[in-house]
Amino acid sequence: MPDRLPVAETAAAAGVHVSVQLAPGDRRETLRRDVLEGLTRTPKTLPPKWLYDERGSELFAEITRLPEYYLTRRERGILRERAGEVAARTQAQTLVELGSGTSEKTRFLLDALVAVGTLRRFVAIDVSEETLRESAARIASRYAALDVQAVVGDLERHLDRLPVGGRTLIAFLGSSIGNFPPAARSAFLQGLRELVASGGWLLLGLDLVKDPGRLLAAYDDPGGVTAAFNRNVLEVVNRELGADFPPDRFAHVARWDAENEWMELCLRSLDARVVRIRDLRLEVEFARGEELHTEISAKFRRGRAEAELARAGFDPAAWWTDAAGDFALSLARTA
Ligand code: AVJ
Repeated sequence: MPDRLPVAETAAAAGVHVSVQLAPGDRRETLRRDVLEGLTRTPKTLPPKWLYDERGSELFAEITRLPEYYLTRRERGILRERAGEVAARTQAQTLVELGSGTSEKTRFLLDALVAVGTLRRFVAIDVSEETLRESAARIASRYAALDVQAVVGDLERHLDRLPVGGRTLIAFLGSSIGNFPPAARSAFLQGLRELVASGGWLLLGLDLVKDPGRLLAAYDDPGGVTAAFNRNVLEVVNRELGADFPPDRFAHVARWDAENEWMELCLRSLDARVVRIRDLRLEVEFARGEELHTEISAKFRRGRAEAELARAGFDPAAWWTDAAGDFALSLARTA
């Protein structure tokens, strides 16, 4: 069988149900609001979810293959080793993958849950419609007996639209939870707690605090893939809102914030300039050297992560790391 069938056919053949909660108009409206709000405050900020249009998703996939970007490889190794234990403990009937992207590492969980014989349904939610459709179709054709539900939506707004049922395991991999600032993170965890009710499980991928030199290398690779990924948000705003950002006049900056223990990504304007955002009838002034904040990527420690889970109503059940202690998988159960 070919690796990739045309999406529509695969979907029809294998029975993927796609629900679009983030319709194009709604998506645009949210982008307009985020850009207006983010570019008129100090410091200027854009939410990281807008990094992931088709091009951005491709660039992120390329990042995961960089030698410096250890996160994906480490997590894959832990998952490969521990998926059987996750399946045995959770006996999940529904697996929900949040911000699934290409769902590439999910295979380990799916295989293990199919092997224990409990899994009935796979639910994936992502903002990136194309990527989501393709990966859901691939999963549906590989696991023909599964009910596959794909939800195009925003993690912070559409959790309540997820068709969960039975014993549920939520997987939020890749340390993507590190993109939320602390207050949003705890609100988000509480939302997950409400989603799974009692007897549910949460599997989180968490990147751990480590030597800042390695973190800096992971977020500022010499080939400039991460820089292109970061600048891509300007291309998105240019294309979707008719803005005139010159991406090559914004430098990629990655720095370690030792106090907050997060990586911070910004775009630094190389010139003093006025950027026009036509569809918002907005002119935004940048001072030379001014930074536009695009992403934080928090790094975790076990004690704090488990305390945070407990505060949201999850009892920590397991904590697995790779041998080097770079990355962790945390399994927790609803209290
Ligand atoms: C997909 C959010 C986990 O924070 O490491 C990679 C995104 N940004 N390089 C991360 C990202 C720059 C990534 N997450």
